[in-house]
Amino acid sequence: MNPFYLVIPAAGIGLRSGRTGPKQFETVGGHSLLTLTLSRFLGHPALAGVMVALAPNQSPPDDFPVDPRIRLCVGGDTRALSVLKACQALRAPADAWVLVHDAARPFVTHDDIDALLDSLADDRAVYLVGAVADTLRTHDGETLPRERIHRVLTPQGARLGTLIRALDLPVTGTDEVSYLQAAGVPCVPVESMGHNLKITHPGDWALADALARQPGF
Ligand code: CTP
Ligand code: MG
Repeated sequence: MNPFYLVIPAAGIGLRSGRTGPKQFETVGGHSLLTLTLSRFLGHPALAGVMVALAPNQSPPDDFPVDPRIRLCVGGDTRALSVLKACQALRAPADAWVLVHDAARPFVTHDDIDALLDSLADDRAVYLVGAVADTLRTHDGETLPRERIHRVLTPQGARLGTLIRALDLPVTGTDEVSYLQAAGVPCVPVESMGHNLKITHPGDWALADALARQPGF
């Protein structure tokens, strides 16, 4: 398997989370969220290096893993800028593979990471998606065909040079694929076999805590 780099944007303020501080430093199942998320990747034999983007003057959590592959950089005002700055700070070859993964998603599975890495190929990007369980209806009352819609998750991956070029484009998006598509890069969805919860709203904490305390997690 090809080596890959990991970028974790962790410079957000967690406005929707209902907590007073940034959510990635909150405790879930006895560990900080950031450390839990990092731990999903650190055991991967193909992981070459990690760049974590933190807000200015932010120290890592007390339980942050000691691992020579992990480095820190300062993020930006938007998620995309945090990812761009982390990609630039990696100083890896332009053709290196990079996976970008939200600090707020501690439940990504090893199988999903491997499925993404297996799907990476020249001139294309990959991203994890989940099926929609609910009926989808617009505010105007139109019901959307849910078989034509998926939930877009992370990790999302591409070659480092391709990702940096895309994130520099004058577009706005809440994930890497928005920028990669604008750059004309084919983006291939990979179906997730896990739940990959992103802790976002106050009600997510109790569920995350229960999941993180499961035996074998
Ligand atoms: N993020 C970042 N830099 C920003 C904004 C977000 O690195 N300027 C990171 C967050 O720390 C998080 C990931 O991007 O790990 C996904 O973003 P989201 O879940 O939206 O987190 P927040 O932006 O922190 O939360 P909110 O939108 O509720 O304020
Ligand atoms: Mg946000």
